[in-house]
Amino acid sequence: MSATQIPAIDMNKLNAFVGQFVTDLGAAVHSGMVVIGEKLGLYKALAGHPLSSAELAAKTKTDERYLREWLSSQAAGGYITYDAATDKFSLSEEQAFTLAVEDSPAYLPGAFELALGSLAAVPRIVESFRSGAGMGWHEHADGVFHGCEKFFRPGYAANLVASWIPALDDVKEKLVAGARVADVGCGKGASTILMAKAFPNSQFYGFDYHDKSIEAARESAVRQGVADRVTFQVASAKSFPGKNYDFVAVFDCLHDMGDPIGAAAHVRQSLGKNGTWMIVEPFANDQLKDNLNPVGRVYYSFSTLLCTPCSRSQEVGLCLGAQAGEGRIRDVVKAAGFDRFRRATETPFNIVYEARP
Ligand SMILES: C[S@@+](CC[C@H](N)C(=O)[O-])C[C@H]1O[C@@H](n2cnc3c(N)ncnc32)[C@H](O)[C@@H]1O
Repeated sequence: MSATQIPAIDMNKLNAFVGQFVTDLGAAVHSGMVVIGEKLGLYKALAGHPLSSAELAAKTKTDERYLREWLSSQAAGGYITYDAATDKFSLSEEQAFTLAVEDSPAYLPGAFELALGSLAAVPRIVESFRSGAGMGWHEHADGVFHGCEKFFRPGYAANLVASWIPALDDVKEKLVAGARVADVGCGKGASTILMAKAFPNSQFYGFDYHDKSIEAARESAVRQGVADRVTFQVASAKSFPGKNYDFVAVFDCLHDMGDPIGAAAHVRQSLGKNGTWMIVEPFANDQLKDNLNPVGRVYYSFSTLLCTPCSRSQEVGLCLGAQAGEGRIRDVVKAAGFDRFRRATETPFNIVYEARP
């Protein structure tokens, strides 16, 4: 086609694509709106009863004009309900459940904090595309660490003790009786602390190479009353201390590691003879064509900003990516010398694998 030729454009397809673009642009700026709402306690203040912008401003000690603009953006996006007759704003039960109830299994604001924190890395990642350089997890904005914990914890709270651990052979019984457990790449320790609360006879050791996350995890363990059975320590997945663990878990981090096979080999030699390794990974199919859906889009995008650069920043730099799929995880586990590997269970967001030496 020459520069002067007009392409044959299907107007219906063009309009549909532009419509998608408007939705996506709204979603992109909306992530900042959700973080503002969460940080200022606006959703929580609105839960329960309808309020005008002035009433919400008084209740939350915020500026009414800013608030009115924010409320309007939320109403336009369907995150808040607006009643034109009373000029009041409210949250439906479903909006409150996902935006105002931190313990709900579907609490959403953490995801947006993670998104906003990740996006701060865009200028550097643009350079990484040219240079191939990595960017460690520890080099990101604080919103990445806070958002990650806030986003993942509700899913762990809903599934880890109730369904993931029971899906593994004999593990629940061992944890009830008293077991030695390592949570590797534990971040701010949400998963470690949930397990420690559920299984008070066991001892838990959380490891992560990121010192700030480990500091926060320690404070969290004290705050939540489990410091007697949880120890957090800065250590990498290839060198964390201890032997004869009954259970080692990795939550959403194997694919972030530069050398997942090296890490897997270290896990293997740290396990007792009948030990179990649980690998929690983002849900993914093996083939790209089968991941071209909204969940895949979320994960591939986070993977471009966070997971792939993190792996690239470490030795080996295998870069599995957040959509590795069962086949590639199996290859890693088998290459490290594990005999048994199986998919134990799954949710729409995660796959849980079990590996035994
Ligand atoms: C996506 S976060 C998941 C954190 C936590 N497991 C969770 O589910 O909330 C990935 C974590 O892996 C850690 N990590 C990355 N590479 C690591 C390595 N080689 N050794 C130990 N931790 C590592 C990061 O510091 C980060 O805390």
